[in-house]
Order: sequence, then structure tokens, then C-alpha cells
Amino acid sequence: MCWVFGYIWHPGSAAREVIAGLQRLEYRGYDSAGLCVIDHASNMQVIRAVGKVNNLKVKSDQHDFSTYHAGIGHTRWATHGGVTEANCHPHLSQSGRFVVIHNGIIENYSELKQELIEKWYTFNSETDTEVTVQLFEDIFDGDYLSTITKLVSRMHGAYGLVFLDRDNGNTMFGTKKWSPMVLGFGKTERYISSDYRSLIGLIDDYIILEDGDIFLLTPDNYQVLSEWLAADRIRQTVDESEKVAELGDFPNFMLKEVFEQPRVLEDVFRGRIDFDAYSLHSHTLAHIATLGIKRITVVASGTSYHSGLLGKYYLEELANIPVDVIVSTEFKYKKKFVSTDELYIFVSQSGETIDTLDSLKIVKEQWGHVFAIVNVPGSAIARAAGQWLFTRAGTEVGVASTKAFVSQVWCFLFLALYLWQKNGLDYRKYREIIDSIDKLPEAISDLLLQNEAIKQVAEKYAHSQNFFYLGRAHELVIAMEWSLKLKELAYIHSEAYSSGELKHGSIALIDAEFPSLMVNWGGILSPKNASSAEEIRARGGKVVWIIAKWDSNKHIYADTIEFNPLISELNPFLEVVILQLWAYHIANSLGRDVDKPRNLAKSVTVE
Ligand code: AGP
Repeated sequence: MCWVFGYIWHPGSAAREVIAGLQRLEYRGYDSAGLCVIDHASNMQVIRAVGKVNNLKVKSDQHDFSTYHAGIGHTRWATHGGVTEANCHPHLSQSGRFVVIHNGIIENYSELKQELIEKWYTFNSETDTEVTVQLFEDIFDGDYLSTITKLVSRMHGAYGLVFLDRDNGNTMFGTKKWSPMVLGFGKTERYISSDYRSLIGLIDDYIILEDGDIFLLTPDNYQVLSEWLAADRIRQTVDESEKVAELGDFPNFMLKEVFEQPRVLEDVFRGRIDFDAYSLHSHTLAHIATLGIKRITVVASGTSYHSGLLGKYYLEELANIPVDVIVSTEFKYKKKFVSTDELYIFVSQSGETIDTLDSLKIVKEQWGHVFAIVNVPGSAIARAAGQWLFTRAGTEVGVASTKAFVSQVWCFLFLALYLWQKNGLDYRKYREIIDSIDKLPEAISDLLLQNEAIKQVAEKYAHSQNFFYLGRAHELVIAMEWSLKLKELAYIHSEAYSSGELKHGSIALIDAEFPSLMVNWGGILSPKNASSAEEIRARGGKVVWIIAKWDSNKHIYADTIEFNPLISELNPFLEVVILQLWAYHIANSLGRDVDKPRNLAKSVTVE
């Protein structure tokens, strides 16, 4: 999505600070970028560039910004209007006095735009954002906060708006609704950002703005209004551990984050499992266990939705609780049957996905039990849920989720084990799973040693135009996540399919150019999957099999990726790592930007 960043203080620093801030936020949306800087003599400069923030930096470096002490900047993920310089933010008002950047969507912008055109306002872009600054100028009454209050009464939609006034360079002002925004306080510097982690190292503390807040920020003062009244927002100290990650020796963040997974799992266990006593510890889950939950609904999007599908497997097979899993965009508009014996779990790496957040608010309004599995402390979904499990994956920069997904799945396994204790526990199996969890980080480290072998196999298939990813039961979910990873990283069409279902029509697609990957570590469904593979091979199709090293069938497949399985409940973690590396190496061999794939954004804060 779009991201906003603002800075006030040192003359000559504004452009540099804004660009550095945008670079720290870039992984979250990156079709184009722009900035506006002003100085105390009411000079203003606006620079825009299509593509990555570095293109903006190259253009900015050609300017003299030595007197400019204040600036706002923006990375855009296009919603209204193509990816062009004219549509880059910031956007100016008719007089050129006011300038705005925006994260969100103004749903009624067309009617507002028509109203302004009839007042002889002209527009230079196709964006909804330009309407906001023109309308602001049209209704400006000399007071920023009262004008913003009138502005928001005219707009419908989601917005994080930050304004500058060319004639008053010491003030940033704006408002937010359903788009994250914080005010940051350095020793003298003042910042605004969509994500406080981009300010770590620059600020002493920060304020998380709430929906509906209208703010004004200067080097000497700040004001926050909510419903016309002064709002007392807590100034929170910074958690240095949340700093946006550095690349280190890795070629990109995605590979770094794949290799961080053994450590991430150790972090996500920490304090929650006593491996010697086989005991589980969580105040949050202790409360959840008292609710008498008979059903669970999981609501999430994309990869987080897939973690919910694996969560369904754990909660049903272990804790004996029926689970529905629904994508946020569908749940939000479907008929609801909220009951007191049901738990609604909202899963989100960013904690800002608008459809998941809106779905959570709907359930809360109907007094449903809500619970979040999130990776970002202080995120909107965590705050709205009020109770959560943190996935503790650390900042995930790669747009294709990897370590956060694995830690989400683990949180579901932890929840299932916890609830199982009160719901027909098979203690022998429980201990076996706990023992296997203890071995999981080392098992993943061993698997990562096969990175080169996986690369060799993956690159053989890098030029295929289509793939089937096949599995059954919970391994169909692995196939779904695998398919998404290949699409979002390599831009290759792929489809996850139940291996048993293929013969009911889709097998017609199979030929020598349409490879299939079978996700099947072993277990009771292996013979069924082997039959499905034979049906494919009988039609000239190639099958690549994710297979246990001891499996005697490996010779019959075009290629295999072998690994040492754990117990069946934990093999999804190993299969996921293989899929991540498979998709990574195919994308890398095709020269894709694996950290910032085209058309994507790290957090989807618009509907
Ligand atoms: C992850 O690989 C995807 N880029 C995307 O589907 C993501 O999982 C989805 O947008 C949900 O994001 P969230 O977990 O931050 O809510």
C-alpha cells in the first residue's frame, strides 16, 4: 500500500531524511515515490519518480535543498490512476499553497471532484488524493484542525492524510482513518510515519494515532483531536528490537528471512513451552481456555489465510474443535452467526490488513470472542482484538511472507496443543509432538543445508509456464501456499489441486510442458498420491516429488527433493521451507525482484 513519511527540523536535512524514511518503508509499497520540501522563506520543491525510491533519490540529488527544513514523502501502490509521475504524490492545491500525501482510498472522490470542477478547480492527476487537497483549500477557514474536521465530514473511505502549508513551514497536520500513522518525537526533530519501526533510532518516543484523530505537529508542540475534543494519546517508548532489519551478508531479505526460521521458531517457543516438564504457558490462552469454545472461525488473507487452513488441521485433529477458515474479503460481507461458544481468530503478519481489521470490528460489535495472531506489536489488529499471540518473527521485509508464515502456523499448533489439554488429550501423542517441536529448529537448519540441491532441481523448471501443486488433506494447504509463492515471486501461473481430484477434469491440462509437484512426505496417503502421480506420468506429465529420504519410490519420478521427515504433525514446517526455496530459486533465476515483486505491497491497507 501507499506509505507516508514526514520530517521537520534541521535546515538542509528535509529531503535526505524523507528519502531515507521512504527507503525504510519501501518494501511496503513501491510503484512510485515523491516528496515535497519547504523552507522558512516559503520556497517549495516537489520531486516525483516512477519506480523504486532510488529513482526519486537520483532526481533529488540534482537539487539544492540546503535551506529546506521540512518535508513529506510518499511511496505509492496505485489504486486510482496508472503508475505515472502525474499520479505520484504529493499533490498540490490549486494555489500551490497546500500539499498532501495520502495512504488509503477516498470512495466518494468522483462526486467531490465534480463539485470542485464546477467551482473551476482543475486537476493534474487521476488520483483520489488530489481531490482532498483541492477540497481542503476550498473550505480552508484559516485553522488547520477545524478545516480538517470539515474535510473528513465530506469524505468516505480509508485515509492517512499529511499536509504541509508552504506559508507555514513549521507545521505538519492531517488525519487518519483505517490507515496506520504515528507521530515521532526526536530530541528536536519531529516525524510522521505509516510505521513506527521506520523511526527506530531516530526518535525517543512516538504516538500511535487512532481512527478519526486529527493532528497538528510542530517542533514545539502537538495537538490531537478526536470528535472535536483534545485526545490524550500515550507517548510510547521505542523497542529497539523492532528496528527494520538490515540485510547482512544475504543477497536479499527473502533469503535472509528463510534462513532466519530456525531462530524464529526458537523465539516463538520461548517462555511458552517447558520441554522438560512438557508444560505450556500462556496467560492469553489460559483465558481463551475458560471460554468454553465449541467452534472456531479463522479470518485472514493470502498467506495468513493458508496458515489458518493449517491451523484448522491442528485444531480439529488434536483439540477436536471444528474450524472454519474464511478469507477476510469474503467474511466481511457474508451473513454472520456470532455465538458465545465460538472463537474468531484474525491472522495478520502486518496487523494492518484492512479487510481483516474490518472483519474483526464486525465480530466485536456483535460481542463475539475475538483473538489475533499477529507479528507487529501495537498494530491495529492487535489493538482492536485486545488479546493475541505474537508470532515474534521480527520485522519481515520480504513481501512474500516466509518466517512470519512459519511462526503463524506454529502459533496455531501451540493453540491446538493448549486446548487439547482440556479436550481429550492423548498424552503419549502430546509428548511425542512436544519432543518433535524441540527438534524442529535443528531439522529446518539441516534442510537449509540442501539449499543448493533444491536450487538445482528448481532451476530445471524455471521456464515452465504452468504448474500443478498437488497434495491431500493438510498437504493440499502446503500446495496452496507453494502455488501463491511461485505466482507472487516468479510471476508464473500455478494452481494448487487435490491430487485425488485431478482426474475429474483438470488432468486434461497435463502434458510434457505442464509439470506437477507432489507435496507428500509419506504417511497413509502416500499410496493414493503415488496413484495420482502414475495417472499424470501415463499422460506424459512430469512429476517432482517432495519425498522422504528413505522412500523407495523416488526413482519413478522425474525429480525428487528429499528430506528427513519428523512426525506427520510437524512435516508441514519442513515442506514449507522447501517450497520457499523452490519458489525463490525459480524467481531468482528469472531475475525477479524477490523482495519487492511487481504489483504487490507488504501490507494491504485498502479494500
Ligand atoms: C504473503 O506472501 C502475501 N504477500 C500476502 O498474501 C499476505 O499474506 C496477505 O496480504 C495478508 O497480509 P497480512 O498477513 O499482513 O494480513
